[in-house]
Amino acid sequence: MWKDSYLVGVETIDIKHKQLFGYVKELMEALQKDVHADEYRAHISESINFLKDYTMMHFAEEEAYQKEIGYEDAAAHKVLHEKLKLDLATYAFELVKTNFDRYVVKRFLGFIMTWLVHHIGSEDQQIPRGVKTTTYKHIEENIIDLIAIKAVNVLKIITGMHDDEINYAIIETEPISTDICYKVDFINATKRGAGFVFSRKIAKGVLSAMADIDMEKAVYADYDEMVFSAMQEISDIISSKIAEVVREDDKMCSVDVPFRIDADMLPPSVDCVEISTKIGNLNIIIF
Ligand SMILES: [Fe+2]
Repeated sequence: MWKDSYLVGVETIDIKHKQLFGYVKELMEALQKDVHADEYRAHISESINFLKDYTMMHFAEEEAYQKEIGYEDAAAHKVLHEKLKLDLATYAFELVKTNFDRYVVKRFLGFIMTWLVHHIGSEDQQIPRGVKTTTYKHIEENIIDLIAIKAVNVLKIITGMHDDEINYAIIETEPISTDICYKVDFINATKRGAGFVFSRKIAKGVLSAMADIDMEKAVYADYDEMVFSAMQEISDIISSKIAEVVREDDKMCSVDVPFRIDADMLPPSVDCVEISTKIGNLNIIIF
């Protein structure tokens, strides 16, 4: 599950990151155990508690290191950590409440894996450089390009795909309805939103890339909830990146939690981006 491409280059941080992936892997293995066995609950509960405590400790260390080197984007980075702490607490509560229901465990795994892979592969990579690298101005004229670029970047980070394996185009036709779709509402003056329509192929491909599972051979039902929550988290990450840029342009914008709907329930699109990759397609419609 761990890949050397996730290395940040600061040994103390990299050791902790590897360990975090180790806990996620243990959770994944615990899922294969018999759900009726006490061993299953004990294993899941232990792994989640370790993951929660270890994350808190690691975030504190990482934030101290950022302070030490005078990292420019430390405050915004801390906001990301705080949000994850809240999400972890919410999941831990739900897991205990449901007696570690497999459905919730799978949902949690899809979420945490996507979050970690993206956060470590993107935001944490900027720490040793000491400065934040991206800015994007004058977004009114090219919001569609902005959305496409952000989505391509997120997919590249999460899957490890290279430039020549991923392309985007602005298209007229709307996506078909049999795929996995998340609707996101942007809370801003224009009340626009986005629909993220993942083909089954890309959804499976993303999970295979992150978790080293051969989804072609795997029993899909074993991973369905994991796939859905991973796609939900990807929709959330891309939307948050877009909102971040809109805010840099001095406009108010926040993102609601993505929720799953049928693609044919989406409002009519204004614009549509098709991202085609070697592991399937993601269409993003803007309404
Ligand atoms: Fe971090």
